Amino acid sequence: MTDVTSEQTAGAGPRHVAIIMDGNGRWAQSRGRPRLFGHHAGAKRVREIVEACPDLGVKYLTIFAFSTENWKRTQVEVAGLMGLFRRYIAKEARALKDEGVRVRFIGDRVRLDDKLVALMDELELLTSDNERVHLTIALNYGGRDEVSRATKRLAQDVAAGRLKPEDVDEETLPKYLDTCVLPDPDLVVRTSGEARISNFLLWQSAYAEYEFIDTLWPDFSSEIFAGLVHNYGRRERRFGGVLA
Ligand code: IPE
Ligand code: IPE
Ligand code: MG
Repeated sequence: MTDVTSEQTAGAGPRHVAIIMDGNGRWAQSRGRPRLFGHHAGAKRVREIVEACPDLGVKYLTIFAFSTENWKRTQVEVAGLMGLFRRYIAKEARALKDEGVRVRFIGDRVRLDDKLVALMDELELLTSDNERVHLTIALNYGGRDEVSRATKRLAQDVAAGRLKPEDVDEETLPKYLDTCVLPDPDLVVRTSGEARISNFLLWQSAYAEYEFIDTLWPDFSSEIFAGLVHNYGRRERRFGGVLA
């Protein structure tokens, strides 16, 4: 059972914030520019938000960069995004390392090209001793896909006799998820005015607090981020219980 009084730390900030970075396309289109222009502007916002984390007490930041459904976009947009991810990793690696950021990627790597996967592996390794901020980038990530892949591996363990069906409980599945080493998000933010989660961290966000804000991702700032973190501290998390 969750101990409500110890989990609900009034006034404390979120330890783990997850962000659905949405609205790049609309931001570009409102300026008469191609959607990729918005993705470039969006990528530039990430560093400021990562750097704001330590002072705000945010130890874990998880950002949604590309979903398992985003392959439905035009070939031009998808190829542009993949190129952007490659350049972003190559360009930011040194700064991330020096800033004490530990980078991890979640999502299915199978569909990503080898060059990109190699860069992802390299960045994870390069930053593996860091612990100032844990930045997780969701790339080709879908919550349903993640749960399906986890279940497949769980079933393989059962079939191989490594796990007994009667031992499967709420603690079992998360060990097979891409996020197995991360705490659950305390706060999930979505920019751009859409109030949906679009297949992001389905299992992990069961008790997250949500903030849906109208700002388009390329206009997001450390000031807005600080405001959301502050608002979180005023919320009362009950986890199904009753506060004393
Ligand atoms: C979010 O911005 C970035 C990705 C999904 C890759 P969008 O590209 O979804 O921007 P909008 O929602 O069309 O404005
Ligand atoms: C969610 O945004 C995915 C990312 C931010 C990477 P989308 O723009 O793809 O979501 P929908 O299509 O509006 O639900
Ligand atoms: Mg969108």
